[in-house]
Amino acid sequence: MKKKPVMIDVDTGIDDAMALVIACAAENLDIKGVTTVAGNVEVKDTTRNTLNVLDLLGRGDIPVAAGAAAPLARPLAKASYVHGATGLRGYNFKENVRYALREEPAWDFMRQVLESSGEKVTLCALGPVTNLAVLIEKYPEVKPKIERIVFMGASYHTGNPGPVQTFNVMVDPEAFRQVVHSGVPFYAVPLDTTRKAYLTAQEKEAVKEMAGPAAELVQGVLFSYGAAFVTGDEQLDDGQEVSTTTGNKEREGGKTCLHDPSTVAFLTAPELFTVAGPYYCDVECKGELTSGFTLIDKEDWYCKDEDEKHFYFVDSVNREGLKDLFYRSIRHYQKG
Ligand code: BDR
Ligand code: CA
Repeated sequence: MKKKPVMIDVDTGIDDAMALVIACAAENLDIKGVTTVAGNVEVKDTTRNTLNVLDLLGRGDIPVAAGAAAPLARPLAKASYVHGATGLRGYNFKENVRYALREEPAWDFMRQVLESSGEKVTLCALGPVTNLAVLIEKYPEVKPKIERIVFMGASYHTGNPGPVQTFNVMVDPEAFRQVVHSGVPFYAVPLDTTRKAYLTAQEKEAVKEMAGPAAELVQGVLFSYGAAFVTGDEQLDDGQEVSTTTGNKEREGGKTCLHDPSTVAFLTAPELFTVAGPYYCDVECKGELTSGFTLIDKEDWYCKDEDEKHFYFVDSVNREGLKDLFYRSIRHYQKG
């Protein structure tokens, strides 16, 4: 089977970990490397989590390179209240592995992979795009080697964790602006769509019946994802985490949205999605209340030239198909 070469940039993160479960089970993806960025938690934590998750999935052969510790121009705003102090609330690894970690930073590693690849490589970003912005700024000559960027985030109408801004854009809007204006085709799997890519409370229960390393990981993190009213998160010296929660707010009515998993699903099973565009897209970087809001010019108000329209909007998902892919991916590791 012809495999698509991809690199995945993550801020692991509960849903990033679940996305890696799908990615590593996908027979049509050739994962050339995984890079980490500060986002949900600090980069030292996203890197540790990523190395541990790949090892658990039996894919410790995939090289990992750590990237930016902070956004380009502002302090890091984390989401540990959603993902826990470690970034993977609900699952503790027995040990931390580091053997797959490269010495060079994420952008240098991405450049090496792009330059040495015989074909174009897709960059999939599941966190703030700081690493991609540094790559493109430092090594613009690699742009023709990028097939496209597939990104979780942006929105036309909605937001999380604010009314209009999506987390991965809000954390580093300056980076998003550089990347979305770079000329590289940019495919957003936006919050409007990932909100429709959910598991119901009943569908989550099915995961409890599954076995294997991925099932254990997902069972741990899925049920603690987004536990709201977290009043405190503390990481003990042995890596264990104590969260003080006062209840589960269930903003989504008991549903869990598969934000990052949908984005990887779009790579491996694009037939489950529809895509609109290209559009012109920009981002609010200075708004008093709206920094991180993506302006997607669907109605062509700005009358931009066609060569300024690089932004594609993944506008629908086959939820049943996605759910089946997720279940199938978790079961994949049962075999080993
Ligand atoms: C996005 O924000 C992060 O917290 C998740 O990992 C995901 O990438 C969802 O809004
Ligand atoms: Ca993420």
